[in-house]
Amino acid sequence: MSTADRIARLSELRQQAQLGGGARRIEQQHERGKLTARERVELLLDEGTFEEVDAFVTHRASDFGLDDEHYLGDGVVTGYGRIDGRLVFVYSQDFTVFGGSLSEAHAEKICKVMDLAMQSGAPIIGLSDSGGARIQEGVVSLGGYADIFLRNTLASGVVPQISLVLGPCAGGAVYSPAITDFIVMVEGTSYMFVTGPNVVKTVTHEEIDFEGLGGARIHNETSGVAHFLSASEPEAINTARRLLGYLPPNNVDLAPTTGEWQPPDVDGETFDALVPDSAQRSYDMHRVIDGIVDAASFCEVHAQFARNIICGFARIEGRSVGIVAQQPEVLAGVLDIDASDKAARFVRFCDCFNIPLVTLVDVPGFLPGVDQEHRGIIRHGAKLLYAYCEATVPKLTVITRKAYGGAYDVMSSKHIRGDLNFAWPTAEIAVMGVEGAVNIVFRDRIARADDPDAERARLVAEYEERFANPYVAAARGYVDEVILPSETRSKLASGLRMLEGKRQSVPAKKHGNLPL
Ligand code: HXC
Repeated sequence: MSTADRIARLSELRQQAQLGGGARRIEQQHERGKLTARERVELLLDEGTFEEVDAFVTHRASDFGLDDEHYLGDGVVTGYGRIDGRLVFVYSQDFTVFGGSLSEAHAEKICKVMDLAMQSGAPIIGLSDSGGARIQEGVVSLGGYADIFLRNTLASGVVPQISLVLGPCAGGAVYSPAITDFIVMVEGTSYMFVTGPNVVKTVTHEEIDFEGLGGARIHNETSGVAHFLSASEPEAINTARRLLGYLPPNNVDLAPTTGEWQPPDVDGETFDALVPDSAQRSYDMHRVIDGIVDAASFCEVHAQFARNIICGFARIEGRSVGIVAQQPEVLAGVLDIDASDKAARFVRFCDCFNIPLVTLVDVPGFLPGVDQEHRGIIRHGAKLLYAYCEATVPKLTVITRKAYGGAYDVMSSKHIRGDLNFAWPTAEIAVMGVEGAVNIVFRDRIARADDPDAERARLVAEYEERFANPYVAAARGYVDEVILPSETRSKLASGLRMLEGKRQSVPAKKHGNLPL
């Protein structure tokens, strides 16, 4: 064969690889409202930066007629490229080849880029669109999944891992995204479940469709499996790009800073008056967040799940921070099982990746109730406490209003190594709310009084005056400074600068025993 023929052959193979499962299946993919694996990679990465590896890999199976059917790449496009100029590794399952199903060779390709990502200290982004294990390959395919799960676990806390679920993701396959740090799903086209509607019907006699069982909305609102809900694939891909902008490439480096920040547009007087006079009335904690972080820099995580707590990334003077904040507008900002799980995972992520934590506290306590107790609010609340205790990144706390009971301790208090703990003048730091405290402590006295209502009102006022304020805690140094709401941003910014070189450690151990 001449050199020219050899060169022509390479270009022919390259063209063939581009086509995946062929033009007809690409058309079907588009008809389903989905992009192809390659189109997704092109959208995800900076233009012209994608370098593919293993484009010519094919499967090695021969059962069930597979020896007659080979596609270059074997159902997954893998390689590396840049997002905002920063290195990332990527794999994108190609539904046009055997439904994106995972074969031995397909799994090896994914493992190869995961290994490269770990060695290079760069994030891994997985785009899944797959019918699961390649049925014709049997246990070899299951082994391939396990190889990926192991790498997901070993990479956890070393490099950020982001999963975009852009089609089916079923059976044991769900556990790869589940181990990664963030899952993005698209409404109407992506779904995740351990067993599909047919199996559910057989086993439990429940009738449900794909969307209702494991669609994007269910996993964002109800199960908490997914962290971001997108209306379209380009939006999902954009979410991954934006998210990476807050993150360092690995657990040793720092998150990128930007010099192009704008201060938030707030009127100081309005901001100072944000907390209502009555403890019974709510306010929107999003307004507080927007008033202290760089303009338009807040990127909420788990926005639809456990909305009584808000978690998300933002920037303060160009530096990445992780925000955890109660939302008084939802269930009065109470800590329940889902809120504890959501915030604990977020705190641990930030701690893994050197992202300082800013905690905004307005918490009436843990949610009372038989359901919560029986489902283990003790076990779940302990996760959040553990996560904050363990975290060694800079921890800055602002108590805006209520900090009651055990929840006061949990929410990044001084006692569990909060570095800078601020309180607004509206803060109430106490074992419980005023009414509850008075009813318990002075029950007999109120019952014996000539005018019980007047006596209760007098005791409430006295208790409020003595305890429902930040000054008792400030007198003990549990609160470093009582500040005006309008001073919060500048106090946090200078605190973050002061803590830039913070070094703190936990005792050497294999790993702790996080309550799960
Ligand atoms: C081999 C598969 C496949 C699979 C789909 N295909 N899934 N080939 N192994 N797992 C092929 C189809 O034969 C078809 O080939 C093409 O992909 C597209 O599939 P369709 O069925 O036409 O597409 P659609 O109607 O959109 O349905 C998608 C689907 C369905 C819901 C994913 O294909 C399906 O139910 N697949 C099987 C899912 C499954 O049970 N997987 C195993 C789960 S258990 P042609 O040639 O017609 O284009 C599992 C265990 C993992 O994954 C364990 C890890 C520990």
